[in-house]
Amino acid sequence: MAKESKTPVILSLSSGKGGVGKTSLTVNLACALAQKGSQVLVVDGDMALANVDVLLRFTAHKTIRDVLERGEDPMKAVIFVEPNLGVLPASSGVPEMVDLGPAEHVLLGNILSSIVGHFDYVLLDTAAGIGSSVLWLNTFATHNGVVVTSDPTSITDAYALIKILSREYGRKRFFLILNSVATPQEGQQTFDAIARVAEQFLGIQPQYLGCVPRDNVVLKAVQEQLPFVKGAPRSKAAEAVVELAERIRRFKRE
Ligand SMILES: Nc1ncnc2c1ncn2[C@@H]1O[C@H](COP(=O)(O)OP(=O)(O)O)[C@@H](O)[C@H]1O
Ligand SMILES: [Mg+2]
Repeated sequence: MAKESKTPVILSLSSGKGGVGKTSLTVNLACALAQKGSQVLVVDGDMALANVDVLLRFTAHKTIRDVLERGEDPMKAVIFVEPNLGVLPASSGVPEMVDLGPAEHVLLGNILSSIVGHFDYVLLDTAAGIGSSVLWLNTFATHNGVVVTSDPTSITDAYALIKILSREYGRKRFFLILNSVATPQEGQQTFDAIARVAEQFLGIQPQYLGCVPRDNVVLKAVQEQLPFVKGAPRSKAAEAVVELAERIRRFKRE
């Protein structure tokens, strides 16, 4: 691994609503960025109900919890599923990890800050909801990604997340990813509707990062525990994720 200290793009992926595709998109975007030769870290920010290990088929020996509670070396907890793709794993079924307190967030900030310089891109997969750790991870990120589907409940929850982050945490730049769309037009129209309301009521202009079609390869990838950008690189979903990764690579030059 490179020894120099980098200034990574730190992209959070949140949604408010659960089950909209945050973890699937995080691991596949990470693979797409790593395939381009970048050093990539995925932080499993769903700290009480980890899923990244499931989608990438590995067993975590040390987790964020061990690092927080026992002061373990965070780089020793990082599992490299590929030479340039690391994962800082989380635990599963640990209720006290659902929402950390302020002191633990300071500690987590110090821990993450001590390792992110090894990477070009750090993707923060977050839990559902708008709990304190979801919000904290969004404030730690340099770029806030919001995953949303065209389902009205997903739109409502994504808007609620954007509202609280903009009004109470001063976040102003949001990058929307429309997932599970039937057509690109559906993605654009849903984005336009959210952007109109965000502009009118919050005075902010979210940006459209792109859309990912509803595609059975996503489901299959979860079942086979193999990211679809690897297992089905020519699928529509994989092509869409590679395009999203290209847009994320442009963050470096902004
Ligand atoms: N683009 C898509 N096309 C088809 N199914 C999808 C798509 N994105 C997500 N899914 C389905 O939704 C499920 C939940 O996705 P997941 O990434 O775990 O969501 P979250 O992390 O937001 O809870 C996946 O197991 C997959 O079956
Ligand atoms: Mg998830």
